[in-house]
Amino acid sequence: MGTATVATALEAAGMAPSIHNTQPWRWRVAAPVLELRAVRDRQLAVTDPLGRLLTISCGAALHHARVALAAEGIESTVERLPDPSDPDLLARVVTLTDRGEPAETAVRALQAIRARHTDRRPVSSTGVDGATLAELAEVALAEGAHLHLLSPDGVIDLASAAARAQRVENLDPDFVEELAYWVGGSNTPSVTSASAAGGGETLGLPADVIPETPPQTTVPGRDFGHGGTLPISESPTGGGHDRAATYAILYGDEDVPLAWLRAGEALSAVWLAAVQRGLSVLPLSAAVEVAQTRATLRHLLAELGEPFLVLRVGVPEPEQPAVAHTGRLPADQTIDVVRDRG
Ligand SMILES: Cc1cc2nc3c(=O)[nH]c(=O)nc-3n(C[C@H](O)[C@H](O)[C@H](O)COP(=O)(O)O)c2cc1C
Repeated sequence: MGTATVATALEAAGMAPSIHNTQPWRWRVAAPVLELRAVRDRQLAVTDPLGRLLTISCGAALHHARVALAAEGIESTVERLPDPSDPDLLARVVTLTDRGEPAETAVRALQAIRARHTDRRPVSSTGVDGATLAELAEVALAEGAHLHLLSPDGVIDLASAAARAQRVENLDPDFVEELAYWVGGSNTPSVTSASAAGGGETLGLPADVIPETPPQTTVPGRDFGHGGTLPISESPTGGGHDRAATYAILYGDEDVPLAWLRAGEALSAVWLAAVQRGLSVLPLSAAVEVAQTRATLRHLLAELGEPFLVLRVGVPEPEQPAVAHTGRLPADQTIDVVRDRG
């Protein structure tokens, strides 16, 4: 197995979504073994003290890597949290075959990796059909997590929980400072001289993926502290809000790192499946970050599990201009190649 092929696959893994685009992962390639490690320096100490959102983000990168390897025709097995004495070693991926015939489904999913991005604009007035939603729930289940679709009453409860979480966070100066560090242009930590205006080699969120004004939605999107430069155009479909969107809670059986990792893999799998069906997915984590509102989400799950993330799933407005892709770290800052037997 060529190290170059693996490195290409891991570059695709770097396109995974992460909380505030912190990209809190590092790969170590010692062919045929790839190790995924958490980068605690980029954990959000105030927002995410347990590392739940960090681990979910790393799980998304792990699933992206699995897809990209399969699209190169490389079979692999995954050991999750293989060493209890080393909790930052999140996964060990062992590649089993040389480059073979790529799996057709993985090739399509790899295309979805390249197309996927977070769109914080409102969705159209067309709803997502029940069969598709059931398929997405199956996709989550196949990755060891659950997707609970909220009823209209549940959405109202979610809306007030999300708004309350946002109020609690906005009153916490440490939280506000941490958010400002990661979001919106001038303060965005940039590891290169590339511009923070999207597409560059950066960490954090550029202004051009943040709406100019808060969209008028039942469930509030994240309050980034200030508007960005992403225009919200008039809806041609009578949409422009979230009344036709479906809200779901991604959850697991236990509030433990293994379940967070699996939830991240499920997030990636669900999102890539949604992209292939022309749908937009918006993760919302504020209500999970605040203990009081996380309890509300747990209640919405009828105490059946531990809530990890809220997802808005919707049909995007047709013919909208594309949203910029958020930049990523250069590969040499997320991938270490230890030795090459390839
Ligand atoms: C665990 C997790 C939580 C997230 N929470 C939010 C959120 O609350 N609001 C939001 O607008 N985006 C949220 N995102 C999306 C990230 O900001 C986004 O993935 C990242 O900036 C990279 O951009 P991209 O998805 O367009 O590639 C979240 C993503 C993850 C993985």
